[in-house]
Amino acid sequence: MSAPTLDRPDAAAPDEAALQAHFDATIAADRRVEPRDWMPEAYRKGLVRQIAQHAHSEIIGMQPEGDWLLAAPSLRRKAVLLAKVQDEAGHGMYLYSAAETLGADRADLTDKLIEGRQKYSSIFNYPTLTYADCGVIGWLVDGAAICNQVPLCRSSYGPYARAMIRVCKEESFHQRQGYELLMTMMRGTPEQRAMVQDAVDRWWWPSLMMFGPPDDDSPNSAQSMAWGVKRHSNDELRQRYVDMSVPQAAALGVTLPDPELALDPETGRHRFGQIDWAEFKQVISGNGPCNAERVSRRRAARDDNAWVTEAATAYAAKHAS
Ligand SMILES: [Fe+2]
Ligand SMILES: [Fe+2]
Repeated sequence: MSAPTLDRPDAAAPDEAALQAHFDATIAADRRVEPRDWMPEAYRKGLVRQIAQHAHSEIIGMQPEGDWLLAAPSLRRKAVLLAKVQDEAGHGMYLYSAAETLGADRADLTDKLIEGRQKYSSIFNYPTLTYADCGVIGWLVDGAAICNQVPLCRSSYGPYARAMIRVCKEESFHQRQGYELLMTMMRGTPEQRAMVQDAVDRWWWPSLMMFGPPDDDSPNSAQSMAWGVKRHSNDELRQRYVDMSVPQAAALGVTLPDPELALDPETGRHRFGQIDWAEFKQVISGNGPCNAERVSRRRAARDDNAWVTEAATAYAAKHAS
């Protein structure tokens, strides 16, 4: 960079309009924005919000299935579930790291989650009542996560897009292990089949809510799509998910709990019933069946492990000096 000249003291200072134009061109050409690049403040803030919410969902998402680790029905099931829950911790770590490239502080994000100032996916506020729930979470919840996350592999922000590529590979294992568990249970006793159906009845509608509010009630969507962070609308992804899940339910031999679910012969897509958005709003604003429990566990994890963080930080500082 050349030194500022006397007659134009700010000649070397990057001009905001030029930076904005460069950013716009990057987005228009579908190239990635990297941490070193200039970006509009609203883009940075929006990304931190989305990535933090995503990271929190991965970490909180360990709890519903983690509850079953000590009660898995066999060593094989325990090993599979342990690997899956551990993957979710890893996903959280990739995402917190991506948020850090935008200047966010990990401890601050955790505080915001615990204080209810940042959200996480509404789905993890429902309880896991039987082992069939672990299978249904893998099939439906990780399945919905895949629908949401595959397009994010092309997100305009480089570190987020790259984290998603790795996450999606692991999510596909999560979905398969869930479906395989359900297949096994469906070949079992009438009680086991009833457990699977009951779990499907409880998780189907909340899984449709995972795509977020309908397009006409999704305030951040349009800007996020214009910036290439998000690639498809909530309703579009939800429709894709329904179309994908119907044949999988049939192969499994379960009934999806929606009497209005039917194939539209003209469009080749499935029509489905009305989602209970009042329930969604209740759960997302903290009043779901397990919100308090999920957040209080995170609080306990932060507080009980503060000494580890402190010791590790002191050790690192000592080594650095
Ligand atoms: Fe995940
Ligand atoms: Fe997963």
